[in-house]
Amino acid sequence: MAIDLRSDFVARPTAKMVEAMAEAANRPTGFGLREDQTVARLERLAAETLGKADALYVPTCTMANQIAIHLHCRPGENFLTEADAHVVTSEAAALVPDDAQRARIAMVLQENTHVCSGGRVLTYEQMAAITELARARAVPVHLDGSRIFNAAIALARPASDLAALADSISFSLNKGLGAPLGAILAGPKALIAEAVRVQQMFGGGWRPAGIPAAAGIVALETMIDRLEEDHRHARQLADGLAAITGLAFDAPAESNIVLVRPTVMEVEPLAAALAEQDILALPFGRCLRLVTHHEVTATVVAKTLAAFRAVLAGGDNSA
Ligand SMILES: Cc1ncc(COP(=O)(O)O)c(C=O)c1O
Repeated sequence: MAIDLRSDFVARPTAKMVEAMAEAANRPTGFGLREDQTVARLERLAAETLGKADALYVPTCTMANQIAIHLHCRPGENFLTEADAHVVTSEAAALVPDDAQRARIAMVLQENTHVCSGGRVLTYEQMAAITELARARAVPVHLDGSRIFNAAIALARPASDLAALADSISFSLNKGLGAPLGAILAGPKALIAEAVRVQQMFGGGWRPAGIPAAAGIVALETMIDRLEEDHRHARQLADGLAAITGLAFDAPAESNIVLVRPTVMEVEPLAAALAEQDILALPFGRCLRLVTHHEVTATVVAKTLAAFRAVLAGGDNSA
């Protein structure tokens, strides 16, 4: 079977998650939007973990971010974020950069870890400085924390410390945490009450959602601390690749993502040659992206490195 390193969302649920989902399938579900008790437990656990008053279970992190944008910003208003933020590159961008001096900035959005830079980690101090600027102007801060637990593990701080720097936060259950699907939007009670309305308007009023929510609970209970292992494997992968002729790096592997730039061949043919060796890596601009997750073991790292060596054998690192 191919080793899939294109994203962490390809990771399949753990046996414990499958067991929890089977149990949830036998429990009564709810009818009303927030009636399902398994979903309610997941939302409580997510809110507690992040130190927020309430949380909402939504299908995707894109939806969580878009609900937050919708609630913090009105038509005609702008929000400030970094040019390569996921909300700009992959969520049909609500940002109008050349209007920034005229329209009111209604929100500042931070992303940690930052996917486009290869999972780089904003430090607590960097985040706090941005939040301080925003708060001095009474501008709310949303944190796209799709991989916030990777950031927290990399910084050796609880995720709630980072969440405290934002008024609202989104995170993915289906990436490093390994749940089959789902994301969370957390924040103050009044904001989440409004978020339920927007979620419904966006077509996200999913019911019954108790079965995937049961896997989400297991994800929060069992998959956070082990992210350290994914980071170690990413570093091992990066170190191993650095020793191979024909590969270069533009950024260090700070969490579970490795971006490696081939210097002796184009990205697409390299990805195709690796696929022939049963290694799936994602062409990402001038780089190939490799993402570690709970199915990426030390053996998988070794096999991946061996495939790169085989493909690039005889390469020239002078370029
Ligand atoms: C930083 C970031 N935010 C948001 C998302 C969107 O997540 P989803 O695919 O669940 O909509 C992603 C997905 O890769 C991401 O990397």
